[in-house]
Amino acid sequence: MARSDNDTWDLASSVGATATMVAAARAVASRADEPVINDPFAEPLVRAVGVDFFTKLAAGELTPADLDAGDGGQSPVGITRFADGMAARTRFFDDFFADAVAAGVRQAVILASGLDARAYRLDWPADMVLYEIDQPEVIAFKKQTLAGLGARPTTELRTVAIDLRQDWPAALAEAGFDSSRPSAWIAEGLFGYLPPDAQDRLLDQIDELSAPGSRLAAEGVPSHHEGDSEELREKMKESTDLWRSHGFDLDFSELVFLGERAEVAEYLRGHGWAADGAPTNDLLVRYGLPPMNPDEGFADVVYVSAAK
Ligand SMILES: C[S@@+](CC[C@H](N)C(=O)[O-])C[C@H]1O[C@@H](n2cnc3c(N)ncnc32)[C@H](O)[C@@H]1O
Repeated sequence: MARSDNDTWDLASSVGATATMVAAARAVASRADEPVINDPFAEPLVRAVGVDFFTKLAAGELTPADLDAGDGGQSPVGITRFADGMAARTRFFDDFFADAVAAGVRQAVILASGLDARAYRLDWPADMVLYEIDQPEVIAFKKQTLAGLGARPTTELRTVAIDLRQDWPAALAEAGFDSSRPSAWIAEGLFGYLPPDAQDRLLDQIDELSAPGSRLAAEGVPSHHEGDSEELREKMKESTDLWRSHGFDLDFSELVFLGERAEVAEYLRGHGWAADGAPTNDLLVRYGLPPMNPDEGFADVVYVSAAK
C-alpha cells in the first residue's frame, strides 16, 4: 500500500516489515563462515514476527542458491550481497557506539530501532542510558518478545514509542533525555522511508538536542532526479522478483521516498558539525568483505559519521 502522512505498521507490514527483513539478513550474516557480526537475537526475533519468507531466510532454509538467480551471488540484492551489506552496516554502527563510549559519551539514541538488539548484545558502561525510538507496535513487539526469550538489556534501556513525524523530542525529554549532555545518535536504515523535508527536519531536531561533544552516525540515501522515479521504482521491483517467487511480499518501491534530498554529511557540515561519508564499498572492504559493482544495489548508500 502507498505511504500516507500518518501511516502506521507492525513488524509484518509496510515499513515495519523492512525491519524484519534486515534482521533476517543479520541472522544470515551471523551464520557466515567468518562472520563480521554476531547477532544471536536476530533469528528468534524474526521467527516471532511469523512472516514465513523471513523466517525461512533467517533460519537458513532459503539459501543463496534459491535466491541469487544462479549468478554466483553477484545479483545486486542477491541474499549473499544483501547479508554482506547488512553485516558491514551493523559493524559500522556498532563501532560508532564503541568509539562514542570510549570518548566518554553516556547517552545514546537509536532512531527507528526496529529489531536492533544493540541494547541486549553490546557491552555498555554501567552509567550508560540508551533510548530507542520507533512506532509503538514495533517497540512493544521487540520488548515483549525478548523478555519472553529471557533476554535482559545490558544497559539502562528506555523505549520511546512514537512516530518520528510527531513530536518525538518532547517524548524523548519525557523519558529523561538530557540535552545539556553529549549524546550519540544513530539513524540506520531510516532516511529512505522519510520524505526529503522530513529528513532535514529530523537532522535539525537532532542538532537542537545535541550538546557539544555529541556524535551522529547515519545511513544517507542518494538523491534522485524527480524524473527518474518511475524507472527506479521499476528496477527495485525487478531486483526482488526472484524473492517474490519464494513468497517475499514487500514492494520497496511503494515504501521509499525518492526524489531530490540533502546529502547528509553536507547538511550537517552546514549546521556546524564535522562530518564524513563512506560509501558501502569502503565499509565492505574495511570489514574484509568483497566490494559490490558500483552501479548496483545499494553501493550508492553513504555511511556518515559526524561530531559536534
Ligand atoms: C529498515 S528498518 C531499520 C531498523 C533498524 N534501524 C535496523 O537497522 O535494524 C526501518 C525502521 O524505521 C522505522 N521507521 C520508519 N519510519 C518511521 C517513522 N516515521 N517513525 C518511527 N519509526 C520509523 C520502522 O518502523 C523500522 O523499524
